[in-house]
Amino acid sequence: MDETPRPPRRKRYAGKNPRRFEEKYKELDPERFAETVGKVLESGKTPAGMHVPILVAECLEALRLAPGQTGIDATLGYGGHAQEILSRIAPGGRLIGLDVDPTEQPKTEARLRALGHGEESFVTVRSNYAAIRKVLDGLGFEAVDFIFADLGCSSMQFDDPSRGFSFKTAGPLDMRMNPGRGIPAGEWLAKVKREKLAAVLHDYSDEPLAEEIAAALAGKRLSGTRDLVAAIRAVPEVGRLDPERSELAVRRVFQAVRIAVNEEFSSLDAFLRMLPSCLKPGGRVAVLTFHSGEDRRVKWAFQQGKRDGIWAEVSDGVIVAGPEERRSNPRSTPAKLRWAVR
Ligand SMILES: C[S@@+](CC[C@H](N)C(=O)[O-])C[C@H]1O[C@@H](n2cnc3c(N)ncnc32)[C@H](O)[C@@H]1O
Repeated sequence: MDETPRPPRRKRYAGKNPRRFEEKYKELDPERFAETVGKVLESGKTPAGMHVPILVAECLEALRLAPGQTGIDATLGYGGHAQEILSRIAPGGRLIGLDVDPTEQPKTEARLRALGHGEESFVTVRSNYAAIRKVLDGLGFEAVDFIFADLGCSSMQFDDPSRGFSFKTAGPLDMRMNPGRGIPAGEWLAKVKREKLAAVLHDYSDEPLAEEIAAALAGKRLSGTRDLVAAIRAVPEVGRLDPERSELAVRRVFQAVRIAVNEEFSSLDAFLRMLPSCLKPGGRVAVLTFHSGEDRRVKWAFQQGKRDGIWAEVSDGVIVAGPEERRSNPRSTPAKLRWAVR
């Protein structure tokens, strides 16, 4: 008789469709359950553990890729854009993919390797894009042909409750893209002064009730995402809003705290400063942003750089997703693309 212990049975979920992230095992294993993944995508949702790349054709058009080129994807994520870039720079091209996320980056590297992209065409470095110049120096490149960045969080980060990014699911109040650095959002809120939090809410997400929310949250010890949602809703001025507006307030607070915890704007400013020195003459950069604080910085850096003679050409206004992409992937709705040529 076979004495090998059998693996424990997977817990069944109640009802027709799995609701919890960890129960979505079919979506989390797209190679084995392609049909289920296809159905989720068709319904306009992002399967658990996946990220649907945004404005792909427009990003590729902005970068004007050609075989043999070398460039950087500063925000590798799931590797959706990277995969398309790699197919356009082959043969002879080389892509350097950066990301700060120690959980997702190895998975993406393995996925791209399994698609046949070896070390000669694809290298990945766990690094903040603020250090883009150092990464190029370390790899022995003076400058590259193109640089791409798709800012913010990936769907894998948002959708995994254990990362604490989402106000929709219960999880620890963490929100760090790199959990090995900095402090979790819960600790940050417990330490932050009221004036600083009000400025963060105002500057990072244009929150109209910044002062009132900051007075209630600053210095508070909250351990989970649900506690933060409840604390925001308990602010009397938020409680008086209709449900749609109060959800927007919750969304904006989560966004602002996430930006602060990950120091996203100082990284973006450093990246924008370093960009020109990393591109060859005629080299191109394309940046996808997801809210006004990001877009303002990119717009200013490109326009000011054009006036100063650093950029030869910059995009006229922003490129946004069309109605079809917004329908099939609602996460594309706030996206704005800008590009510049060295
Ligand atoms: C929107 S996702 C990119 C998705 C990707 N374009 C794709 O098609 O799958 C953004 C990624 O950038 C990473 N990221 C955010 N800030 C970063 C930074 N300062 N340096 C490096 N990576 C960063 C996040 O961890 C996340 O994986």
